[in-house]
Amino acid sequence: MKDTIYRLPQEFIHKLKKIYPHRFPAVCETFLHRKIPAFRINYLKTDLMNLRKMLKQERVKYKELPWPKGSFLLTMELRTFQQSYLYKEGYIYVQNVSSMVPPVILDPQPQEKILDLCAAPGAKTTQLVSLGNREIELVVVEKIRTRYYKLLANLKAQGIDWIEPYLLDGIWVRKKFPEYFDKILLDAPCSCEGLFYVHNPHSFKYWKLRKVKEMSHKQKKLIAAAVYALKEGGTLIYSTCTFSPEENEMVIDWVLNKFKDTLEIIPLTLPLTNAIPGLCRWKDKKFSASLSGSVRIIPHEFMEAFYIVQLKKTG
Ligand SMILES: C[S@@+](CC[C@H](N)C(=O)[O-])C[C@H]1O[C@@H](n2cnc3c(N)ncnc32)[C@H](O)[C@@H]1O
Repeated sequence: MKDTIYRLPQEFIHKLKKIYPHRFPAVCETFLHRKIPAFRINYLKTDLMNLRKMLKQERVKYKELPWPKGSFLLTMELRTFQQSYLYKEGYIYVQNVSSMVPPVILDPQPQEKILDLCAAPGAKTTQLVSLGNREIELVVVEKIRTRYYKLLANLKAQGIDWIEPYLLDGIWVRKKFPEYFDKILLDAPCSCEGLFYVHNPHSFKYWKLRKVKEMSHKQKKLIAAAVYALKEGGTLIYSTCTFSPEENEMVIDWVLNKFKDTLEIIPLTLPLTNAIPGLCRWKDKKFSASLSGSVRIIPHEFMEAFYIVQLKKTG
């Protein structure tokens, strides 16, 4: 393994070895390289046949992926692609493939009331609208003002002018929208360990074990609020781009205990070779066996690390 990996916080490396004892070298390798950029279609502006035609006309070098449908790897300079009208006019959205998975699982359907609880900069918001079009009732929430403005800009660039996001702490959806939503996406704020890149110290310099603990606390408050805002029979997708079990399985185990008998995991199976079951144990703590129905996406050359779980409110 390359020495440069030891630029990452030692405690993080130590922890990662425990999370992935067998995959540790392969996972470490992914911190040494930037991910191959990817993009997806914006169905509001075009369809797949037409997009393929336009990509050819614009001489974009790409590889279409089998899943998620409408996703592509960019095999040319991102900066050059960003000069194309396809990018500028919002026919596509540049987004990591792992990040495309939660909205695909959420599967927005006409007339559904859907909440995107932590929305900025809007990759998944714009994807939800692309998939569900004007036929879904989408409520969008973001707490941080600067990020909220970035979200507004991205909505505009993708041709979405009928949604007015709330600049709001997500914990208030509990009071504002009790038992209202059919589906909720909680793409939670996290310690972003999946975005660590050894050649960009900014990506990891603020990481501390204490920060992971703080994030876990925030995530619990947000997920509890989301459960209160969910209708009986409704679905909640929780996701993070981090490895720490304290922000993933432990949050879910906590919420399953808090809402005993009214919340359950609907197991996920993704058509990906790098998706593995969530942990059912971490250190001396044993979680609900149903946590094996959640999914960890193992990072590789074009997918970031992600954790995804699907919950259903049963009563
Ligand atoms: C992982 S990012 C979301 C990324 C976004 N879903 C996307 O796909 O582009 C988490 C977001 O949650 C926001 N956030 C943090 N605390 C929040 C809170 N209490 N309520 C609502 N949003 C919050 C952060 O500012 C950040 O924009």
